[in-house]
Amino acid sequence: MRPALLDRVGRLTDDDLPAYVYDLSALREHVHTIRAALPERVELLYAAKANSDPRILQVLAGHVDGFEVASGGELSHVRGLISSAPIAFGGPGKTQAELVQALDAGVERLHIESEHELLLVSALLGDRLTDVLLRVNLPMDLGQVALAMGGHPSPFGMDPERLDRCLELIASHPGIRLLGVHLHLASGLRAEAQSALVDKILTWAEDWAHERGIDLAEVNVGGGMDVDYAHPHKVFDWSAFGAGLRRILARHPHLTLRLEPGRSVTAYCGWYVTQVLDIKFSRGSAFAVLRGGTHHLRTPAAKLHDQPFEVIPDDAWPRPWDRPEARDEPVTLVGQLCTPKDVLARRVMVERLRVGDRIAFAMAGAYAWNISHHAFLMHPRPTFHHLDDVEASVTGDTYTHRLS
Ligand SMILES: Cc1ncc(COP(=O)(O)O)c(C=O)c1O
Repeated sequence: MRPALLDRVGRLTDDDLPAYVYDLSALREHVHTIRAALPERVELLYAAKANSDPRILQVLAGHVDGFEVASGGELSHVRGLISSAPIAFGGPGKTQAELVQALDAGVERLHIESEHELLLVSALLGDRLTDVLLRVNLPMDLGQVALAMGGHPSPFGMDPERLDRCLELIASHPGIRLLGVHLHLASGLRAEAQSALVDKILTWAEDWAHERGIDLAEVNVGGGMDVDYAHPHKVFDWSAFGAGLRRILARHPHLTLRLEPGRSVTAYCGWYVTQVLDIKFSRGSAFAVLRGGTHHLRTPAAKLHDQPFEVIPDDAWPRPWDRPEARDEPVTLVGQLCTPKDVLARRVMVERLRVGDRIAFAMAGAYAWNISHHAFLMHPRPTFHHLDDVEASVTGDTYTHRLS
């Protein structure tokens, strides 16, 4: 934790906990590094589903070419915050109302998930125009990945054999312009594997388009850049990926490549800060019961990993009895929920952990608060804080709000 962040966390009161602290300065620097690593012919969108916190989106807006949204809710949210943002609307199961909303909003791209969805768009379009990408599920062995959305039978996108029917439909509808294809096949790929996947996708896409006499303008290869919770410092190698893309794009001189990463952009800027409520020993195993839990930070339960954390000691102990503590032993960090699944980290060695100490979980900026089951057990919601060095130097503080 960098000193400014530690200072900000230190100024949270116990009543503020649990708290999400988003380091906007770190985010700005990170997305700048990403942008700088990518070749010019790459357009960078941010997948808003990873974290749609308003101030995060506003910081990103200055560095990305647009946003990928996957629901009418995300569309209204992003448009409401950044009215000029180019938006690509994707995701399975778009309702009729959402498609009308997207067409009315004039989204920059519609990612078409199925022939039925394309028919629905053509029926709703009227005299409007829309640019589409057909989402494809290419059969391939993706190897060991954290999350495979395609490659095998899946509800995402279309098998390549189904695309010709879509081409016929598009040819018969002058309001629909096909710009290219979209393939988000997996999450959890390192730079080398991600480059190899992009290479395969672009080769397939150009061959597919060539065979059909299609003028392919763009390919969106989705997101999925690896975030390694077991090794927080092993950040996706954007410069190696960028170099790989430069080599690949040299073989596709007329293509624009789009990326729409989510987790790899925002995971690192988020911290979930809480406090040890109790330390218990059960048949020799130590458990730290924390304020909050997976109803605020579901990521470790969803992905079955140990969420990395730092202990922030708090020496104040106002009680007359001995302070419960664990020393030089593995401790399992659990939340307040009445379920054995409420585990944030399992049997992690700690030097010393006491009731009242604070725990700051790192890498809590993506698929964290927004994928959590907030209502379970009706505990209070966390408070939210944003640290922005630029803003702090002007105002002397950070922006804070409590969700109702
Ligand atoms: C279509 C699509 N694009 C982009 C993303 C972002 O993926 P990630 O957060 O792994 O980068 C997802 C995630 O599910 C997705 O479904």
